[in-house]
Amino acid sequence: MRRIIPLELVGQDSLSFDIYNENGDFLYPKGELLTPKLLIQLCHIKIYARDENQEEQRISKYKSVISEQVSKTLVNFSKNLINIVIENKSPDNNVYNEACDIISEEVSRLIEKIECASQLKIVDEYMFSHMVNVSALSCAIGIILGFDNEEVKEIALGGFLHDIGKALVPQDILNKPDKLDEDEFEIMKSHTLLGYRYIKENLNLPEKIAKVALDHQENYSGGGYPYGLKGNEINLYAQITAVADVYDALTSNKVYKRAVDSDTALDIMLKEDDHRFNPYILTKFMQMVDYKNKKSVNIKREAN
Ligand SMILES: [Fe+2]
Repeated sequence: MRRIIPLELVGQDSLSFDIYNENGDFLYPKGELLTPKLLIQLCHIKIYARDENQEEQRISKYKSVISEQVSKTLVNFSKNLINIVIENKSPDNNVYNEACDIISEEVSRLIEKIECASQLKIVDEYMFSHMVNVSALSCAIGIILGFDNEEVKEIALGGFLHDIGKALVPQDILNKPDKLDEDEFEIMKSHTLLGYRYIKENLNLPEKIAKVALDHQENYSGGGYPYGLKGNEINLYAQITAVADVYDALTSNKVYKRAVDSDTALDIMLKEDDHRFNPYILTKFMQMVDYKNKKSVNIKREAN
């Protein structure tokens, strides 16, 4: 870690690297708007940045166990499905069923061999890899929580389709690199309901699968969207997907944000734990991610 003198930041519009405190806790992401207020705040504490090479090493520490061939096949399934939705074509059930069969079989076969759940991830254009990764990570959580094979396949399917409604949101809002304004955010939030309706009406899948799209942005302690549900009011598969969704988003490179490593992602998720995730599911996931070598899994509340 390199100590940052706040003077180095003067004149920058936004942070050009992630900022950490002296304990190595993540504080602000690269790209955060450097307002005068933030600059004054940073002048009052010791701040650090990670060495770029060290950071690359941390991120690529665990190589994916999914073969390139399988990864390509899965990305093609994602692309096909997104095109079907965008172009309003009749959906082909084989596209998502086959994708989820491959994902659940691969994850079941490989889960014992991995050191870190991030090894189940693939890398491609975010929109497509995210569908595969959330499906694979959700599936892995389902396996360690003891769901049976049939349920694990349903979890894989729910994860694969959770953001399908985003294909129905205007692309300029979806890909906007800056912060969304209030109206744009309302439109973005509608992806949950749009996805739910699409899955029910066009894919004819059961309610519990469609509910993953509807409920995955709900917070475990309330205050999420679209309905502000709490605890077990939220579909259980969606509670699993919520953890996989945020972890994949944080650990993936996006147009406007660089990936963070697994530990940093879980540090961020733990800070949100009071209101965002089912603590039991998050604890189980952290063990699977090998959080700080399994030394300090420490969650305050027990799950219902
Ligand atoms: Fe997502």
